[in-house]
Amino acid sequence: MVDPNYASFSTVISLVCPSAVASKYIHDHINNHFQLDDKMVLDFGAGTGANCCICKPDYYLGIEPDARRVGLAQRLYPNHRFMIFDEKQIPAPDASIDYIFVIAVLHHLDDSQIKNYLLEFERVLKPGGKIIAIEPCLWDHTPFQNRFMNWYDDGKYIRKEEGYLNFFHEGQYHCQVLKKFTKCFVYNEILFSAQRDDGTYAVPSQI
Ligand SMILES: C[S@@+](CC[C@H](N)C(=O)[O-])C[C@H]1O[C@@H](n2cnc3c(N)ncnc32)[C@H](O)[C@@H]1O
Repeated sequence: MVDPNYASFSTVISLVCPSAVASKYIHDHINNHFQLDDKMVLDFGAGTGANCCICKPDYYLGIEPDARRVGLAQRLYPNHRFMIFDEKQIPAPDASIDYIFVIAVLHHLDDSQIKNYLLEFERVLKPGGKIIAIEPCLWDHTPFQNRFMNWYDDGKYIRKEEGYLNFFHEGQYHCQVLKKFTKCFVYNEILFSAQRDDGTYAVPSQI
């Protein structure tokens, strides 16, 4: 049964910050930091495909465990490719991907799921390939927003910055926090990239 307080509050939030506006934040931040042209992008946990429009159709694969979302994404964006996946093996060949988008997905995953996915990311990324992640984030100096995000968001695992980055550091990734921003007044988020420490990652000015 829908909680009427939740329903009305979430309606207010969606009016204050419609999903198109939220997507625009994300797309601008990614475009400001990365050159996606002719780069093969895997959109991990693609949902209904909101992030595909910043990629060329031939260079994009969205994967998502929820079949209904995949169906909707494919109807909304018929030129882009979406696949259902089994939450284990990523349906992409070894060393075939330049960028993996992980947009608002990690906070839905527990620690062991993230560690297992990192092994798959390592397998499918080309040498020098990068993970581009945007996640809601708990900040020490914003207790109100932290409580709000934990109450409002479906994801059970909203973490602090180091909580996200530590997974990647343990997996021998080099991370860069590229942006910290507040979406719609109440949602604190970070954009970071992660690249394997194989000596090939770009220095910051080349990102
Ligand atoms: C908040 S939505 C974000 C969707 C999309 N990335 C976007 O930015 O619009 C989180 C997505 O993560 C997906 N998800 C949940 N559990 C997952 C898992 N174990 N592996 C991969 N994706 C998962 C959900 O089905 C959902 O589509």
